[in-house]
Amino acid sequence: MLYPADRHPIVQVSRPADVRLAAIGDLHLRDREPNAVPALLDGLAGRADLLVVAGDITENGRVAEASLAAQILGGVGLPVVAVLGNHDLRGLRRRAFREALESEGVRLLDGDAVVIELGGGRRIGVAGVAGSGGGFWREEHAVAPYGRAFKAVAIKVRREAERLDAALRDLDAPLTVVVTHFAPTVTTLGAEPVAKWWMLGNAELGRVIDNHRVDLVVHGHAHLGISLGHTAGGTPVHNAALPVNGGVVVIGLGSKMDVGQPADRGSGA
Ligand SMILES: [Fe+2]
Ligand SMILES: [Fe+2]
Repeated sequence: MLYPADRHPIVQVSRPADVRLAAIGDLHLRDREPNAVPALLDGLAGRADLLVVAGDITENGRVAEASLAAQILGGVGLPVVAVLGNHDLRGLRRRAFREALESEGVRLLDGDAVVIELGGGRRIGVAGVAGSGGGFWREEHAVAPYGRAFKAVAIKVRREAERLDAALRDLDAPLTVVVTHFAPTVTTLGAEPVAKWWMLGNAELGRVIDNHRVDLVVHGHAHLGISLGHTAGGTPVHNAALPVNGGVVVIGLGSKMDVGQPADRGSGA
């Protein structure tokens, strides 16, 4: 069952829909420019149980941008769980950036997890990590980094995957959602050029996810991607990047997932 937000019909199917999860990413907020995000989130509290934000919350990782984001996200009236994206990590004042977001109740995940009580005995576990680029080796025929750069990327891939693995190992909830910024699969990369795939995510994240019982993965970062895909093991994946969906997406999640076969899940955006 899907609960589309206004003007943003979506496609994911899952029933019975015990939990309505709203997802968005890549807001790229700038404090000195007007933005449409508050309008996109208006009235969401009546249509969803929680909101997850898949990174690139801000454009430049500035504290003033984080304060604006905190004001917007904190005003939604739902539990908000977020991961950071590469743009959020551009700033140097990372602790102040984080504190600004958390001051309005935004829960930032970075290699850890949280279980949220939604009332009526419903609980959902969310594990989050930014992830990294690194590539999908078997799936791509792309230019990849080499030499020292390759080594640095490989270390980051492994470190982020291990942190996600640890977060999932400790998570005990009837529904489990993973939020990343970088993609764990190529199936949501859509029109992104193959030569860029290695910058957009990595297969190791997907492998970790498939080693656990995960009901849904939400990522961002691939602005030219498509909404729906799946990991190699068949875990449903949603690309929540704002340029892909044009707004927030609300997904019904139930203890008995019914999402069809992977081949049926492709969707233009
Ligand atoms: Fe982005
Ligand atoms: Fe990004």
